[in-house]
Amino acid sequence: MKRQFERWLVAGVLSLASSTLCVGQDVIRPGDPWLDSHGQRIQAHGGGVTLYKDVYYWFGEDRTPSNDPDKRYVACYSSRDLVHWESRGQVLVLADPERLGPHWVLERPKVFVGRKGAKFVMYAHLDDAPYKLARVMVAVSDRIDGQYKYVKSFRPLGEESRDIGQFVDDDGSAYLIFESRPTKGFFVAKLTDDLMNVEKTAFIAAPLEGGALVHYGGFYYVVGSHMTGWRPNPNVYATASTLAGPWTEFSNLAAQEVNNYDSQSAMLLKVAGSKGTMVIFMGDLWRPHALWDSRYLWMPLEMGSRSMHLPPPQPWSLNVRKGETSLRSNVVPPTP
Ligand code: DGJ
Repeated sequence: MKRQFERWLVAGVLSLASSTLCVGQDVIRPGDPWLDSHGQRIQAHGGGVTLYKDVYYWFGEDRTPSNDPDKRYVACYSSRDLVHWESRGQVLVLADPERLGPHWVLERPKVFVGRKGAKFVMYAHLDDAPYKLARVMVAVSDRIDGQYKYVKSFRPLGEESRDIGQFVDDDGSAYLIFESRPTKGFFVAKLTDDLMNVEKTAFIAAPLEGGALVHYGGFYYVVGSHMTGWRPNPNVYATASTLAGPWTEFSNLAAQEVNNYDSQSAMLLKVAGSKGTMVIFMGDLWRPHALWDSRYLWMPLEMGSRSMHLPPPQPWSLNVRKGETSLRSNVVPPTP
């Protein structure tokens, strides 16, 4: 599968080379190194995107090899079009906050905006090795692009919490999604008004991680991956008309055999424009032995009524003001 994906990517890149003069960098190229405005590789793994004052901010794990190995880093990038990203630097630089040991973990950071935009609150999965602590970390900043200062860690709702996701509903309510292994499912937990704690909203009985949610066309869609560590697996989704459920059975986001194109869900990003609304699947193509070199798979999902489908990755462009996408169909399709 990996070979097939790589073969296809090479074909895609070669094909694009001939059209580069036309499309320049104005496309998202799933699986390719994604460069920021300084030509540096974007380090925003397991990330989340926060919209604030018409600007998108992409936060994620910064795995730059020259980072101090005793610290953990979150990088931030800003963009108005979701294609070109300007580096805002390392907005969280954290030394082991709780004597977690040399292999401590900070993963999947997500940033929420306070109701009056006065405060910005970052959540992330905080853990020791091997993932026993199972807590969330909370850090705050007066500016969206940092610096974030560690405040506390806790187990949301008193439950073990590993992968986290973020969701902001159309009414502005903010939710933390977290995977809870002992209860074999994940929680959707509404953030309190000060964003510093959570209240139970829903429990989805499915042992999945990489949880992500979107509200589209009157329905809620939840996406997750099975638990196979860094190895990819077919991601699945379910729908409901309210967060509390009932939720449908889970179905594959793409055909079983394509293995989610080797990616794992990180977020579902809704872009509502003047002409349409799209939902972008944001996934990670993990490289566990060189996490800094992990790539991103962002694709617009094909949305139906209570159905969603991840199409084969290919270069694509979008217009966030209109909410429209266009695929670059001159790329050689994957080998069957
Ligand atoms: C899967 C998770 O989704 C990742 O964020 C990471 O925690 C890996 N497991 C570690 O094996």
